[in-house]
Order: sequence, then structure tokens, then C-alpha cells
Amino acid sequence: MKKMTEQHLINAFGGESMAHMRYLHFANQAVREDFANVARLFRAIAHAEYIHAGDHYLELKHLNNGFVANSMGAFGPGDTKKNLRLAIAGETFEIMEMYPAYIEVARRQSEDGARRSFEWSYATEIMHKALFEKALAAVDQGRDPEVGPVQVCEVCGYTLEGDAPDRCPVCGAEKEKFRVFS
Ligand SMILES: [Fe+2]
Ligand SMILES: [Fe+2]
Repeated sequence: MKKMTEQHLINAFGGESMAHMRYLHFANQAVREDFANVARLFRAIAHAEYIHAGDHYLELKHLNNGFVANSMGAFGPGDTKKNLRLAIAGETFEIMEMYPAYIEVARRQSEDGARRSFEWSYATEIMHKALFEKALAAVDQGRDPEVGPVQVCEVCGYTLEGDAPDRCPVCGAEKEKFRVFS
């Protein structure tokens, strides 16, 4: 594998792994503040980040002596309002800078497996940002947002609110591959 794409996969694995953990702690904080739907949203999206990390990880199986990954995560315990802002900032960075650049490098380096993994994450983070922004608008007014069932594709992590589609619009997986957080 080309070294630059390989490093991007390691970075993305680290970032998604820590996003997973961060969102689980953010869910716990939302429970403390009686924002049950925000907590559920954080748990669903934490699961999506776990899927992303796993997809990147599988592309790195040639590194069988192990590798060291940085998290690139934003930390600092805070209230749910602050946590949602941190989450939106992280998703925005992934959408605006990280994944578009990683996708382009992988394409130029003909690393198709890595490119596919990056594209799956990119498509998902757009949804995450929108869901967090909707949640923050309610929390800013001191109330728990209305959130329907949240569906997460177990193959690519794609996340949507509502009923599971017949096929995942990102990876084509069948309806049964969606895990619902309701
Ligand atoms: Fe995300
Ligand atoms: Fe999918």
C-alpha cells in the first residue's frame, strides 16, 4: 500500500475510534441532564463511528506488526451543549477537510479499498453533522429534541432518522443490515 494512503487510514482509524468513545461519554452526560433523545443519538452515532473505525482497520491488515494511531479528538468534560458543539466541530472537520483530502489522495494512488472506506465515512459524517445540529437547536432552548428511530448500517455506518431503507444508499446493503436505536 502507498505510504500516504496508509498513514491516512491510520489517522482515520484513530479519529473514528476516539469519536466512538467520546460520543459514548457524551451520551452519559446527556442522560445526567435528562436529554434522553440526545443520549440515544450519541449512542447511535457512536456505533456508526465504530463501524467506520472497523472498515478502516480491515484495510490495514497488512500491518501485522501493529501501528500507533493518534486520536485527533477534542476532549474536555462539559455539559451537553458543549459536547454537541464539539461533536459538530469534529464532523465538520471530517467533511470539509479530512475525508475529501483522503479520498483524493487514495484515488490518485489507486488505493481503491481505502478510497471506498473513506467515501463511506464521508457520506455518513454529513448526516451526523445535520443530526447534531438539529439536537443542538433544541438543547439551546433547554429541551430534549424530538428524534425518531435512528438507523445505522452495520456495513458502512450510514446513519439516518426514520425507517430503514430497502437498501443502504451508500453501500447497497439490505434493510436487515440496519441496526435501529429507538
Ligand atoms: Fe460521524
Ligand atoms: Fe451501508
